[in-house]
Amino acid sequence: MGRTRRLRGGPPVDTDSTAPPAVRLREAVGEDSPFLVEMLGAAANWSPEREQVSRVHLLADRATARYVEGWPRTGDLGLIAETAQQEPVGAAWLRLFPAEDAGYGFVGPDVPELSLGVVPPWRGRGVGRALLRGLRGLAREAGHQELSLSVERANRARELYLSEGFTTVRADGDADTMALSLHSDFQRPARAPRAVRPTPATQGGCGGPETPRFRRR
Ligand SMILES: CC(C)(COP(=O)(O)OP(=O)(O)OC[C@H]1O[C@@H](n2cnc3c(N)ncnc32)[C@H](O)[C@@H]1OP(=O)(O)O)[C@@H](O)C(=O)NCCC(=O)NCCS
Repeated sequence: MGRTRRLRGGPPVDTDSTAPPAVRLREAVGEDSPFLVEMLGAAANWSPEREQVSRVHLLADRATARYVEGWPRTGDLGLIAETAQQEPVGAAWLRLFPAEDAGYGFVGPDVPELSLGVVPPWRGRGVGRALLRGLRGLAREAGHQELSLSVERANRARELYLSEGFTTVRADGDADTMALSLHSDFQRPARAPRAVRPTPATQGGCGGPETPRFRRR
């Protein structure tokens, strides 16, 4: 009897991929938590000119840990980009936050917030865009109308988001909250003012230690 090779992780995902042929996308599962933490770190440390935030610090600070804690929770959606050797090279994931625990890119409790990171050797090769497009498809299938995120204006990731159709819905200091409609006929509802007033803990973007989001205590 022939042996079947059991793939680690979630099922593969078809997408209008821009990823290099050596990379495939699959759904993120619980075992991917450590890699999601690594990619959360990549997002936090996007600027090499800043002091890098350690993984320990990211996980000790609930404001950042909440993006990955308990992964996967009901409603979470995530994708891993990995090589043929099953080495993860990037991740994109979505999580919903309630108004009383609004994420940095909070638009509404029904709008999941995006986190995205690619390991340095694989950047600039189409992996980030492929992850974004794949996750957009998963979110649409899950019935979401919109995605949101927070990004610092100086981060080149913002160009990626703009080119994929995200628009700025709010400016928070050096960062923008951006949103993407998943359906062409979607009209963003006129939302009530945010339930929480922005505070240092809720401002910022995918930033570094100089931004309130990652400032050391
Ligand atoms: C931002 C990031 C996820 C993009 O992934 P990527 O695989 O490098 O991006 P792609 O190759 O798919 O390029 C897509 C676009 O991203 C933009 N971009 C952002 N960072 C880039 C980088 N380091 N190198 C090249 N392009 C980058 C460009 O506009 C590019 O479009 P172009 O190819 O037409 O110039 C990745 O660079 C990364 O992990 N950066 C650090 C973490 C981070 O900033 N995360 C987002 C926090 S909000």
